Amino acid sequence: MVDKKRLETALFPICDDLKRFEEKLKNKIIDNDCFLKEDILKFMFQNPKRLRPIFIYLFSKILEVNNQEMTDNIALATEIIHSASLIHDDIIDEEELRRNNPTFYSKFGSKIAVLEGDYLLSLALDVLSCTNLKILNIFSNRIKKTILGELEQNVNIDKIMSFELYFEKTLEKTGNLFFAGLESLFVLKEQENEDLMEFLRNYTFAFQLKNDIDDILKNDLNDIKNGNYTLPVIYFCMNNSINDLSKLTKQQLEKYIAISLEEVEKHKNIALGRLKSIQETIYKRALVELCEATL
Ligand code: FPP
Ligand code: MG
Repeated sequence: MVDKKRLETALFPICDDLKRFEEKLKNKIIDNDCFLKEDILKFMFQNPKRLRPIFIYLFSKILEVNNQEMTDNIALATEIIHSASLIHDDIIDEEELRRNNPTFYSKFGSKIAVLEGDYLLSLALDVLSCTNLKILNIFSNRIKKTILGELEQNVNIDKIMSFELYFEKTLEKTGNLFFAGLESLFVLKEQENEDLMEFLRNYTFAFQLKNDIDDILKNDLNDIKNGNYTLPVIYFCMNNSINDLSKLTKQQLEKYIAISLEEVEKHKNIALGRLKSIQETIYKRALVELCEATL
């Protein structure tokens, strides 16, 4: 569970940026005419985590990137692409609900949902066209990798992946959009930071793994029903046959979830360790709090 009060306090140093971000995002949707605009607004503004923009603003402060307009555009494009990917993901996963609301897929069917996701991608391209060619190139490369990660997952449906393949596809499908933001800031700063990149690699793996575990804990077992076997099931199959999956007991599941949670903790600690070289500021403090609150 995310401690919302603690997170709000931690994010105070970037609250003006986040307010300006919300305003710009709303205007981007409102200023363009689209079928189901109200539904898009609802989807994008009802209980979003805004994790990607938060990271981008914190990284921009840590790296001292003094280009507000560009940073806003990077954050906007990232969040819009993320929303598009979720609309498409819900079709693939045949998901009824997202953030306790009916998904585009369940409300309007696959055809409309595909097109609404595509529409959001076109808005993201609008925003990216106001950045520069290097940033556009980073995003196209990272979007491509995200899709390849999602493809890797879907060609392996009903199969048990090795831990290494699970790790790789998890980073691919979830990490790449986060990496796009940080890499774009490196372009603006004309300098890279390997510790921040490694921090983000470990954070995003831990974040997606926790999301996979939560799917099992929520008891809807959507991933297992869809043949998307995530780490707890991979661990189960290291000691059992895949045919025994239907006989998996609650106790067994709890054991493999506990081992998987240790993996979340391990990557969270590696992530936090990579922040040691970063100067102590309110922004670094916020980054640490963000890790603690979300992992
Ligand atoms: C959530 O996974 C989904 C992703 C992190 C990426 C989905 C990517 C695509 C559908 C490819 C298309 C990409 C673009 C850019 C349009 P999840 O199902 O594990 O998480 P959930 O529990 O939030 O659904
Ligand atoms: Mg999904």
